[in-house]
Amino acid sequence: MPDLATGALLDQSPPKAKSFISGTQADGRRSLRVAAISWFAVAATGQLLFVVYLLLLYGRAALRGDWAALNKVMPHGYVPGDVPGNLTIALHILLAVIITLGGLIQLVPQIRLRAPAFHRWNGRVYMTCVAATCVAGLYMVWVRGGGPGDLSQNLGITFDAVLILLCAGMALRHALARQIAVHRQWALRLFMAANGVWFFRVGLMFWILLNHGPVGFDPKTFTGPFLTFLSFADILLPLAVLELYLRAKERGRTPQRIAVAATLGVLTVAMATGIFGAVVGLWLPNVQ
Ligand code: HEM
Repeated sequence: MPDLATGALLDQSPPKAKSFISGTQADGRRSLRVAAISWFAVAATGQLLFVVYLLLLYGRAALRGDWAALNKVMPHGYVPGDVPGNLTIALHILLAVIITLGGLIQLVPQIRLRAPAFHRWNGRVYMTCVAATCVAGLYMVWVRGGGPGDLSQNLGITFDAVLILLCAGMALRHALARQIAVHRQWALRLFMAANGVWFFRVGLMFWILLNHGPVGFDPKTFTGPFLTFLSFADILLPLAVLELYLRAKERGRTPQRIAVAATLGVLTVAMATGIFGAVVGLWLPNVQ
């Protein structure tokens, strides 16, 4: 049957030219696919290392009943006498583990295809945990007064929470309406948004390695223009790159697909550098 949708019936180009064109189109698609899979493999490795850090630092401390371990990294982790606040941060970290693992599992296509019931349940748990951790985070920032750095960073992480909740709502809405293609796009946006705090850590360590030290912020007060920028960029940049990827994948021409694949390649190298920095500079020193 002639492929009217792609205009193959109207295509009068000679067979050789046609196979050359479809060959380059396939190259564009393949480059984009390889770039996306490589990006995901590196991101998944970095996120699993983040989970290992959380389990080694906070999981071990929980088994020992050692609340003071909450203050190893966070300035306001454990506050004696503040039972609701201490329970909130403990819950926030437990949810961080579930969210990070659950988000990765949701994106593996083999699991989605072979175990759709599990995908739906994991999706419900993921969205509930994401919403709960945002509420817990907002409570810590605005009620408990334990936000990172200064007001600009508090506004940045609040903006993260709003975008996370928005993406979760849209992903849920389209899943319930069985609009699976649109649901998938919002689920990817939710994955990026929910990993904003992870991108913050990786982005910060990439920046420090790139500049051979802290530039654009004061490491003692943890404030400065670069951190203000990063508090918003940690979520906006991944979401913007995702939009470029989705557009290139759905209706991009070959040069556009190759350009997006190359951009993803560069960002994957930057992300791998940041993950290395986070493991060596942030996570390992705190679990030894
Ligand atoms: C949804 C994804 C999120 C994850 C996976 C996550 C994960 C974490 C983790 C692991 C910590 C402990 C610090 C460390 O050891 O690195 C932490 C601390 C914190 N998070 Fe989140 N978080 C998320 C979202 C949020 C949001 C949306 C907010 C605020 C609106 C928030 C506010 C905070 C605050 C205030 C602390 C520090 C508490 C203190 O120093 O007293 N988090 N988060």
